[in-house]
Amino acid sequence: MASKLLATKPIDKILAEASEASEHTLKRALGPVNLITIGIGGIIGAGIFVLTGTAAAQFAGPAIVISYIIAGIGCVFAGLCYAEFASMLPIAGSAYTYGYATMGELVAWIIGWALVLEYAFGAATVAVGWSGFVNSLLGFFGTKLPFNATPAVSIPLFGHTISAQIDIFAMLAIVVITVILVVGVRESANFTSTAVMIKVSIVVFFIGLAAIYAFGHWSQMTANWHPFIPKNTGHFGQFGWSGIMRGAGVVFFAYIGFDAVSTAAQEARNPQRDMPFGILGSLIICTTLYIFVAGLLTGVKSYTTLNVPAPVADGAAAIGVRWGVILIDLGAIAGLASVMLVMLLGQSRVLYTMSRDGLLWSWVGKLHPRFCTPYITSIVVGAFAAFLAAFFPITLLGELVSLGTLLAFTIVSLGVWILRVRHPDLPRPFRTPLVPLVPICGMVVSLALMFSLDAPAWIGFGSWLIFGLIIYFTYSRKYSRVQRTLAAGSAKQVSSR
Ligand code: ALA
Repeated sequence: MASKLLATKPIDKILAEASEASEHTLKRALGPVNLITIGIGGIIGAGIFVLTGTAAAQFAGPAIVISYIIAGIGCVFAGLCYAEFASMLPIAGSAYTYGYATMGELVAWIIGWALVLEYAFGAATVAVGWSGFVNSLLGFFGTKLPFNATPAVSIPLFGHTISAQIDIFAMLAIVVITVILVVGVRESANFTSTAVMIKVSIVVFFIGLAAIYAFGHWSQMTANWHPFIPKNTGHFGQFGWSGIMRGAGVVFFAYIGFDAVSTAAQEARNPQRDMPFGILGSLIICTTLYIFVAGLLTGVKSYTTLNVPAPVADGAAAIGVRWGVILIDLGAIAGLASVMLVMLLGQSRVLYTMSRDGLLWSWVGKLHPRFCTPYITSIVVGAFAAFLAAFFPITLLGELVSLGTLLAFTIVSLGVWILRVRHPDLPRPFRTPLVPLVPICGMVVSLALMFSLDAPAWIGFGSWLIFGLIIYFTYSRKYSRVQRTLAAGSAKQVSSR
């Protein structure tokens, strides 16, 4: 029994599947620029536009810059491990497939199930933020949505209050993104490219604006940066070094998304070369932008004033550029839309791979005859994310997203190390440097960030995993292709005795 749960998927089989091409496989349409765009598309979103201000005000002060550097370094460790796997096993299952190749079916299932938290719950979290930005932009013009979300009933769950509100705009956003996803990967890539161009230009615009302002107001900037690390209040996580760590745990959310590049591996024209480029390139670009935004924002405005819904837009207003507020709101709206798209894209690709392995129903992996996209899954996942976006509070969703992502990062880091020991001679187009040091650092940082999250999120996470295990033991184990191959192999052995 235990050996069955630990059954791994043979690497040569994964490689054969990665190079298959038929009407049942995804189309290879993406080049290196598309991949880096998918990475930036998944990364820049609510994190930089909102959490920078709120985390500076509540936990780290101007030292939020250090929080960004710490979270960024943690992600680079995981990113290096993802890059090795994604170039070596270029298949859409991402962390799920890497787990299957190294730690066995049960771990793979758990990772695949945890990735639903990252991607579907992630898209829902971002949809709620997106509708907030649309509302704020409309508010700027003195109007608001006719159907604003108003809580009707409140249900206590895991220490949080679930408000039975219907955020129709968040739902609509997910519906539109789902339609783009169903129509095709090229259309999705074009949409992402446009959104990425808008959001990166606007982030660079803010950096330029604030830098010019800094030259003319240097003494004000330095006064706002002082004290750079505000003294701890006596409570863990409220300023001082513990606040910087807590800030790192919170702004980690801003980096989530670079790993989604690896779910596009089967749609990349040259995954061996381009996967590391897409994963690491997007991560490095965003880390640099984040450090500048965080440093300049806390110089333009005192960190004590940044606990507001749109702190970066407020920064532009403080500089005295009112139209900058509109631009930044637009940047956030475009940014969050591309995050939703990349997450939902990643989700459908992971589930597609799980279905092809027999761990989920066959309809999950069914491709549209014309668009060649896993359309049924995209629609079901879209409906599920729209439901979550409509009914669940953003804080609980956000923490579940971080837990699911960090679990995947931990397993991917461990997997790189295991595979180096078990199969040292496999061709690796990209090699993670300093193995096992980098994977160990990836695991330690990910586990530390996981344990910095609240108990209610852990209860939600545990319940989600139990639900997943029920599906695994009642369905997946029976229909798993790897298990069937194993069973056929032992039957042969018995009959030949
Ligand atoms: N990194 C994404 C964001 O900040 C999830 O919205």
